[in-house]
Amino acid sequence: MGVDARPETLPLGSAPTFPRRMWWVAARSSEVGDELLARRIADLPMVFYRTRQGTAVALADMCPHRWLPLSKGCREGDQIRCGYHGMLFSPDGSCADVPSQPEAAAGAAVRTYAVVERGPWIWVWTGDREEADPAEIPAYPWLMDPDWDRVDGYMPLAANYLRGHENVLDLSHFSYLHPGTVGTDEWTKVRPIIRVEDGVLYELRDLPAAAAPPSTAVLGVKPGSLVDRRNESRVPTPALHIATTTLRSPAGDGHEYHGAILHAFTPATERTTHYFFAAARDWQVGDSELNAKIQQIAITTFGQDKDALEAVEEVALTHPGELHELSVRSDKSGLRLRRLIKQRLLDEAEEQGAS
Ligand code: FES
Ligand SMILES: [Fe+2]
Repeated sequence: MGVDARPETLPLGSAPTFPRRMWWVAARSSEVGDELLARRIADLPMVFYRTRQGTAVALADMCPHRWLPLSKGCREGDQIRCGYHGMLFSPDGSCADVPSQPEAAAGAAVRTYAVVERGPWIWVWTGDREEADPAEIPAYPWLMDPDWDRVDGYMPLAANYLRGHENVLDLSHFSYLHPGTVGTDEWTKVRPIIRVEDGVLYELRDLPAAAAPPSTAVLGVKPGSLVDRRNESRVPTPALHIATTTLRSPAGDGHEYHGAILHAFTPATERTTHYFFAAARDWQVGDSELNAKIQQIAITTFGQDKDALEAVEEVALTHPGELHELSVRSDKSGLRLRRLIKQRLLDEAEEQGAS
């Protein structure tokens, strides 16, 4: 599959940068209902919907007859009627009717994908269906815990999914890309502690007694007053970045606010990404006004990330000749992640070659 064996680089855009034997977030739960939702996941066209029992299902979005996307057809009960010559497919992928002949086409079937719904997200497995093990979906209890409140959202990104991961691993960008919300000068200078354990990347950032960023105003903390700030990030699989944050305010007085910010980056294609985000907290639970404020901060801040990442992708796409990145100290965890993913791609390619 043409994976470059050098550990430090991933040829973004020229070879697949995403593993397939993976669970990915495919949709927000609220997006999947009676309507047919067409969505490309890891370069596989899929159609999602919910059966009358409420179970989310995913089929290949391509009629096996003459390939019209099934999402252009319509629901008939729990089945999909193709919008071209009317073949009818069941949630298990089997063909139940061919209008132009008395019998259904023998052996005709659409690929189906394993789907798991957990909290606000619907996950899909893009490897062989028999290998799908829901236990491999990372845990994220904060998004379901009644003692926590949360907001979540979705934005499409016209950029490779790894750029999304690298963006949230190199938090030195806070001060420059998000000076109005989460950035402060001191935050940029924090030297994170990075480690890799069992294929999981961990990063810890501690900033005691530092100026509070503007976004903490929603906690009633005066921007600029001293707070202890801690951010623990981990990337349990290439599908998800989990950051848990602690803010003690003001420094020394001991009141702690806990938050969890999740970023799910799902490759649609090599150059495009479905970005699902969620922000959970353990204070002012049930405060819908605060939810709306946090949602607004998330949309503003992640929108700034989106603008930057899409501009970077555009440069990468249009630059004449070869491009080489300059990496500095703050890229360390991003480069570690590239190495981990590269190894996963090599393992996958090897196993495919062996099977
Ligand atoms: S393309 Fe679907 S029935 Fe012909
Ligand atoms: Fe950002």
